[in-house]
Amino acid sequence: MKILSIESSCDETAAAVIEDGRKIISSVVATQVEEHKLYGGVVPEIASRRHCESINGVIRETLAQADMKLSELDAIAVTNAPGLIGALLVGVNFAKGLSLSSGLPLIPVHHLRSHIAANYLAHQELKPPFLCLVVSGGHSHIVEVKDYTEMKIIGCTRDDAAGEAFDKAARTMGMPYPGGIYLDKAAENGDPDSISFPKPKISGSEYDFSFSGLKTAVVNLIHNAQQRGETLPTNDLCASFRKAVVGCLTDNFIRAANHLGYDKLVLAGGVSANSLLRKRMDEETKKRGWKCYYPPLSLCGDNGAMVGAQAYYEYLSGNIADIGLNAFATKSIEAK
Ligand code: KG4
Ligand code: ZN
Repeated sequence: MKILSIESSCDETAAAVIEDGRKIISSVVATQVEEHKLYGGVVPEIASRRHCESINGVIRETLAQADMKLSELDAIAVTNAPGLIGALLVGVNFAKGLSLSSGLPLIPVHHLRSHIAANYLAHQELKPPFLCLVVSGGHSHIVEVKDYTEMKIIGCTRDDAAGEAFDKAARTMGMPYPGGIYLDKAAENGDPDSISFPKPKISGSEYDFSFSGLKTAVVNLIHNAQQRGETLPTNDLCASFRKAVVGCLTDNFIRAANHLGYDKLVLAGGVSANSLLRKRMDEETKKRGWKCYYPPLSLCGDNGAMVGAQAYYEYLSGNIADIGLNAFATKSIEAK
């Protein structure tokens, strides 16, 4: 089954043709990041406008690279939640138009489910059930993936997402948006034990996260140093902050896997590109004889291929939309 999939939930206009949820036939990503960099973050109105301008060309290019016509496809898939509402609507309406004109079925895809599915494209043997840490710019969840379309959230952030904390810390250090990757690179040359950060304590769920205290701690450190006319060593600061954030993520994830009896652990979302997170998870799972999966760097950020991968399983489970399909800024990964 060949699916044309569309992604426009944030600042990437992307499309792909995916076969049976596992094989990339073509994939095109048009990023708007250079423009949003000027403002230090995504400007929703600009994002929507750029999606409108790019989407036609991105889809034409995706079909051209696949050497296929619309009539050779079996379905159209689109991210319809969660994300920036104006941005999502561009993809959703384009997909509805394509579905209506071609008669092909329309498959709605949850953005975080698609991040998880990026792993199916890279690891052919990977099948649910498994435990997944979904960490992006807007979400930090520990999810039980019981089946391809059956998920249960067992832990989530109480405040900021991990990616948001990385981006805010990086921005305060003068790095461009989105700062997570710059902070990660600088951290490679720093001493992770030079600055100690508070360990967040959360009452209630033992698997929940909190990153706002860590974020505030790093911002205060930098501002206080600036007021004294001092500069902190950026690489050391990045390494120490990265260690603190990754420590929270891995501690909870491993604890949850232990308690719930999972030995197959999966990382997903933009922050799964973080080099320390990947390294720590490799070490922690190896010493327990568990398996750890994460997407290749090219599939960690937003892309159309992951949407097509998840769409295949949504289709098999009967999740097919009609022309009334809408976009939603928020929606639980658990919801049907
Ligand atoms: O999944 P994604 O591309 O978009 C959302 O759905 O939010 O995630 C983007 C987030 C940003 O916060 C970005 O800074 C972060 O992923 N990110 C990283 C790294 N690469 C991207 N964070 C830490 N280390 C990285 N190497
Ligand atoms: Zn994303």
